[in-house]
Amino acid sequence: MNLLYQKKLLSRWLIAILWCSIIAPIFQHVSVMSLPNNETVPAVMVFGDSIVDPGNNNYITTLVKCNFPPYGRDFGEGNQPTGRFSNGLVPSDIIAAKLGVKKLLPAYLDPNLQLQDLLTGVSFASGGAGYDPLTAELVNVMSLSDQLDMFKEYIKKINEAVGRNRTTMIVSKSIYIVCVGSDDIANTYYQSPFRSAEYDIPSYTDFMASEASKFLQELYGLGARRIGVFGLSVIGCVPSQRTLGGGLNRACLDSSNQAAMLFNSKLNSQMVVLGKKFSDSRLVYLDSYNGFLSMLQNPAKFGFEVIKKGCCGTGDIEVSILCNRYSINTCSNTTHYLFWDSYHPTQEAYLALSSLVFDNKIKDFF
Ligand SMILES: *[C@@H]1O[C@H](CO)[C@@H](O)[C@H](O)[C@H]1NC(C)=O
Ligand SMILES: *[C@@H]1O[C@H](CO)[C@@H](O)[C@H](O)[C@H]1NC(C)=O
Ligand SMILES: *[C@@H]1O[C@H](CO)[C@@H](O)[C@H](O)[C@H]1NC(C)=O
Repeated sequence: MNLLYQKKLLSRWLIAILWCSIIAPIFQHVSVMSLPNNETVPAVMVFGDSIVDPGNNNYITTLVKCNFPPYGRDFGEGNQPTGRFSNGLVPSDIIAAKLGVKKLLPAYLDPNLQLQDLLTGVSFASGGAGYDPLTAELVNVMSLSDQLDMFKEYIKKINEAVGRNRTTMIVSKSIYIVCVGSDDIANTYYQSPFRSAEYDIPSYTDFMASEASKFLQELYGLGARRIGVFGLSVIGCVPSQRTLGGGLNRACLDSSNQAAMLFNSKLNSQMVVLGKKFSDSRLVYLDSYNGFLSMLQNPAKFGFEVIKKGCCGTGDIEVSILCNRYSINTCSNTTHYLFWDSYHPTQEAYLALSSLVFDNKIKDFF
């Protein structure tokens, strides 16, 4: 073996070792769950907003983007802004990993996707979307009906590639995750004049719930059977809402939290009704409100210290294009932060939340 070759080999080893020691900690948090009755889940399909958008918005013309630093600071080998609205993984990745499907759930619009990527699932989510169609329209992103159109196109593509039988198996046995609605209340209702003139919160949350029901029925109509729907989180307690209406103590905005709870109860009732109507489906309500509330009420138990500010910039207001490489005072380590920017949790918070909200519900999908 000549010296040059040895050197090459050594540097390859070093790269491999470095790569493993950096990558491993990101994924070692997510352990694969065992599924009941030897069930398999061929793929994970996701619909929703920025909580579960792995970068679809990178490929459309909108200001709701985050494919630049410091987003993705802890992703992969580090400093990899992918379009995920966090420092690292988002819940769609974490759920796909927990189900043993794959470690990252890609964006459907990613032009580099291979057939195998499609067969194991994608996210159709678009940051800024809502149950209310106006929510996506106001910020020029893909609405839930656009997302369903992409899902139809997806079915057609895999049908052409692997045939009808396998497509039917994938569509019916996959786990579907829906996570959307907080932008309807936080942005469209409270920040724009369009809906608050027309609706009060009881009627607006009725409208949202009826849109949610329509969406779930269409998804069922396309063949989905195992569907998990995240309720709204404690949206009045995200840093930007505390800044807007929380006063000097940065208290939570009670009106947003009340609206979220009201919507969640309506969503839950709609899901019960649909579950009876479609008896071959499993509709699973995922209670992010109470999951997140327990983290807010007892942060130390989950390893968190900073809960009222995000890591990015001042932590009070920066989100999306306002959170960028020029943001001043960005924290150096998110480990003890609940929020990455003024609206979105850190990877660390998403890991804790997914365990609280998803793990004990897995049996309900089968
Ligand atoms: C699961 O699969 C194993 C091995 O194929 C089998 O022995 C076992 O009975 C199965 N369990 C159930 C609940 O079907
Ligand atoms: C599709 O499934 C049906 C019923 O299980 C079977 O009869 C048929 O041969 C399958 N077709 C292909 C192309 O595998
Ligand atoms: C952040 O802090 C934690 C605990 O203090 C430490 O384990 C981790 O390595 C730090 N991460 C970075 C990227 O510095």
